[in-house]
This record gives sequence, structure tokens and C-alpha cells, in this order.
Amino acid sequence: MNDMKEIIDEIKARCDIASIIGEYIKIQPSGQNYKALCPFHVEKTPSFHISTSKQVYKCFGCGEGGDVINFIMKMENLDFMDAVRMLATRCGIDINLNIDEDTKKRLELSKRYQDIHTEAARFYLSNLMSTKNKGYEYLRNRGLDDKTIKRFGLGYSLDSWNSLMEYLINNRGYTEKDLIECGLIGKSTKTGKYYDKFRNRVMFPIFDYRGNVIGFGGRVLDDSLPKYLNSPDTQIFNKRYNLYGLNFARKNLTTRTVILVEGYMDLISLYQYGIQIAVATLGTALTSQQANLIKRYADNVIISYDSDEAGVKATIRAIDILVEAGLSVKVLDLKDAKDPDEYVRKYKTEGYKDAIKEAVPRIKFKIDKLKLSFDLNKDENKIKFAKSAVDIIKQIKSPVEIDYYIKYLSKIVQLDEDAVKREIYGKSYYTKKSLKKDNKFNNFNTKEEKLNIEKVEVAKNGEETTEITLIKMMMKFPFLREKILLKIDESDLLLKDSINIIKVLEKLDPEEVLDFQKLDNIDESYLNTLKEISLELIDINNFHEIEETIRTVKRNALKNKIENLRKHQSELEQNRKKMDDSNKEAIKELDIEIMNIALKTVDLNKRLRSL
Ligand code: UTP
Ligand code: MN
Repeated sequence: MNDMKEIIDEIKARCDIASIIGEYIKIQPSGQNYKALCPFHVEKTPSFHISTSKQVYKCFGCGEGGDVINFIMKMENLDFMDAVRMLATRCGIDINLNIDEDTKKRLELSKRYQDIHTEAARFYLSNLMSTKNKGYEYLRNRGLDDKTIKRFGLGYSLDSWNSLMEYLINNRGYTEKDLIECGLIGKSTKTGKYYDKFRNRVMFPIFDYRGNVIGFGGRVLDDSLPKYLNSPDTQIFNKRYNLYGLNFARKNLTTRTVILVEGYMDLISLYQYGIQIAVATLGTALTSQQANLIKRYADNVIISYDSDEAGVKATIRAIDILVEAGLSVKVLDLKDAKDPDEYVRKYKTEGYKDAIKEAVPRIKFKIDKLKLSFDLNKDENKIKFAKSAVDIIKQIKSPVEIDYYIKYLSKIVQLDEDAVKREIYGKSYYTKKSLKKDNKFNNFNTKEEKLNIEKVEVAKNGEETTEITLIKMMMKFPFLREKILLKIDESDLLLKDSINIIKVLEKLDPEEVLDFQKLDNIDESYLNTLKEISLELIDINNFHEIEETIRTVKRNALKNKIENLRKHQSELEQNRKKMDDSNKEAIKELDIEIMNIALKTVDLNKRLRSL
């Protein structure tokens, strides 16, 4: 093991603080914790406490406190690295500390900065809890109870220029340089004096995923600006890599679903109401690093950002980043509430849980939001909207989902379907670049070829006979032909011979009868059927009956096409499964192809239903 963070975690996990301290001094159980006479100052009654759940010690007599490493440093008078080494040996951790001096210094500093943050958090908390103050009043007015305040270690920075600085320097022995590096104090350019950066604010300690304090957010108590002041990025804190609340949530993510919120208050309110699976981005745009951090603990994310315009924009950005990281994303609808904090206080735990259940899939969310930016009373806007919406739909991989959203979209635009299709897909729909010819997964080279394959598929007997009957009627009865040709064209036919004949029929004079002799290039079996079929039982004056035949012919052709498309689609899907990452381009093209087939199937199905 040679990653320092890992080593420290491992030591803390394996070296139980009570048993280590118990090796040096006599400790007495006190509930789940322990008490002892403090080894660092002289006392008669025990004020030295060990918390087993937090794995820390604290003496309320002299103020000394920390984790197991701090105890060993102090007790054995060792520097940080030696204390780590000693504990590692004791708990049997094999460490490789052949690290250079620079790295060693940096690691020691990290530990020091972490300790400073812990001390500062304790200081702020004691300001909040010990005497009457505006910070406590503020948090209580916002509905937080004492248990929640303690759980999150919330605090108050006094309305003073240097109270924190004095405490950390005079009582805890840190230097101005340390505090500057931690972003806790600043230096006035005018007077050259140092001052506390956080003053008269409620303080939110920011934890890393292990629960170490690595930074702070401080909120004003009124409406003044800036509302929050946050720690700058330091050696131990990098906003891009951290998620507020993950230290709590990660223990509860049994269903691998996490809720993503924007603010401290949102997360804490939800927590108090028992929704303890949230993490917060703290107002900044979600980063890919944060998305990857989420992916370690969850597969599903429910975004619950503020409902204002900025929140919606941030949601749309976050969706793409989360999807990129391989997460499945839904969006929670806050109804009339402005943020999750307000929502959960208004509709309570059950209300929020219902909203989780009803969270909207990301594609639907995007389409719905897009819709709002168009006035759909105008047809041209419907087309524009539909075009942009199709761009969203194209991001989906699953054909079933694509079908669903195409239906969803056409319902919204309520336009004549064919018109929408033409407008949306236009020529590009039919000329879309097909798979490259040298691609071994390619079964079809051009759209034309594909169409031919659909046509030559031999139809089942009954279907074939019905179609040929209709053709024969058109050949024999010119007055019927004119009516039938208004309702049917070659795309409604299954057999390539029928198509060839209809092309001839279309060119005939209105009264002209088409004789068998005039047909050439027709399959023998087709010709035989054509001759054999009897029209005697057909009432040629009952056009309703003939219309029914036309519908049947159309239906058969559509069913056949759909079946062929499905077959083709599943073949392509099989091929896709066989591909690996090295085939990215081919996969992309295949996906487009699959999507187009799915779109076409939906289209044909609709036509079928409307017959
Ligand atoms: P919000 O304005 O939604 O804050 O910003 P909030 O947490 O809901 O706070 P209340 O309810 O008004 O008290 C969301 C987050 O953006 C960051 C903070 O992390 C905040 O929690 N933020 C906001 C800042 O860093 N600075 C600001 O000035 C404002
Ligand atoms: Mn808020």
C-alpha cells in the first residue's frame, strides 16, 4: 500500500482508538464510549473522553483532542510520518513509504490542514451551542432541530474580526501561514492586519466522503450579498472532486439511487425529514469528476435542483454529464415549491417520496422543457419544435424507448403524421448514410436494395391471392381501375410483379382493358394465378366491398414490411452486441440505422392502425 490517504483510512479503520489508548492509560467504559484521566494534563476527575463511533478523543479539561494518529504523535512525541509508521506496524498494514521528501512534506501538511479544519468546526459549533446567538436563532427559524444541527456540525462565526484566528493561534498553536493556506483568514492590504474571513455567518462544514472536514460554507443571516462565502480550493479541498453530504448518503444507498440537490439547506432539510440519500453540488455546475464519484455508489440519479430558470438550465447540463458517466437519470418535479427544502417542509416526507416515485425520465423532461420555448399554436413552430425534439430522441439507444417518445412527440404536435414525418426526416431520412460497404456487419448496402428485399419476400398464399385479385379487377374493369388507383399505389403492394403491372395500368387510357398478352417479364406462377382467379363472385358494383379488399391489400403489405423491418432490426441488434469499444464509429452508425428502422416501424404501425 503506498497511497497515503488509503493508508491513513486503513489505520483508522483497523486501529480501534479505545484499545490503542487503553494500552497507554487506564480507561473506563461510559455507555458506548470511554472516560479516563487525561494523560496530557494533571487532573483528579476524568475529563478525557473517547468516542468509539467517531473514533476520536477529546479532553474537556485541557482541550487536547484528535484521532488515533494525533494521540500517538502526542503520546510518543513522534512526527506524523513516524506515528503512521508505528501504527501501521502495530495493525499489520504493509506500507511502502519510500516516498521522497517533498511528498512527505505535502502529506504532513494535509494532515495538519485537516486538523485545523476540525478544530475550526468545533470552535464554530461551540459558538453556536454555548451562548445565545443570532446564528442558532437563524437555524432554528429555518426549521432545523438540535439533532440535525449537531449531525451536520453546523456552527456560527462570531461577529468579530479575529476570534477564530486568536483561538487557533493562541490556544492550538497554529500559525497565520497555516490559516491563510486554509482560507480561514485574510490579510488586509490597507492595515496589513490579519482578519477572520468568516464573520457573523452560520457555518456549514464541508466533509469529504470519509467525513473529514475539508472546507466551509458560511451563510449570511439576512438578505445581504454574497449569500454564501465558501472556502477556496486548498491542498485538501477541491470543489470539482467533492460532493456535499456524500459521507452520510453513501451509507444509505442500498438501492443505488441518489438524489442530487444544489444547496446546503436542501440537503440538510431532506436529511431531517428522513430522506438521507442526497448529495449536493453546492451551486456550481456538476463536473464529470463528481459524476464519476456518484457512479461509485449509485446507478440512478434523481436530479432535484431548484425550479427556477437557472435550476432548469443546470439540470439539463447535469443530465448530459451524468449520462456520460453511465448513470440513469430522472428529474424530480417540485411543483409550486422553489427548492427541495421548501418542498419537503410543505409536503413532508411522504410528499417528497411520492415526487421521487413520479420523477420524470430525462428525455421526457428535456422534451417538455423544449416545448415551453415554442408557441405551438403556429404550425411552423410545431415543425421546428419537432425537429429539435427528434435531436433529443436520437440520443436514446433502446428502440422500445424510441418508439415511446415518437408517439409522445406526435401527440404533442398534433399534426398530420405524414406531414410531420416529411418535415422531420425530409430527404435525409431516406438518404441517410448507410453502413459502409466494407463493414462486415453490413447486410444491406443501399436503401433501394433494402426495399427490394422487402418486396421479393414471398407473401403468404391468401395475401398473394387477394393482391392478385385486385390487380385482375383493375385490368379487366377500367371504370373500377380509375377509382382503385386513387386509393392505392406501388408502395401498398407486396409482390414485385404486381408493382410492374400497376405501373402499366397507370399509363393506360381510361377505357382501355389490359390483356394478359400485353404483359411481359412477369413470373410464370404469378401469371398462372392471375389467369386462374375468378372474379365471378365479386360484386363489381358494390364499391364498399372493393374498398374492403383495398384495405386488406394495404394491411398485408404493411404487416409484411413491418415484419421485415423487425427482422432486420433484430439482426442489427445482434451484430451490435458483438461489437466492442474499438468499433465506436461502426456502433454509432449501427445505432442510427437501428433508430431509423425503429422510427419507420412506428410510422408503418400507425398507418396500419389508421386503415
Ligand atoms: P441557493 O441560493 O439555492 O442556496 O444556492 P440554499 O442552499 O438554498 O440556501 P438558502 O435556502 O437560500 O439559505 C445553492 C447553493 O449554491 C451555493 C451554496 O452552496 C448554496 O447552498 N451558493 C449560493 C454559493 O456558493 N454562493 C452564493 O452566493 C449562493
Ligand atoms: Mn434554498
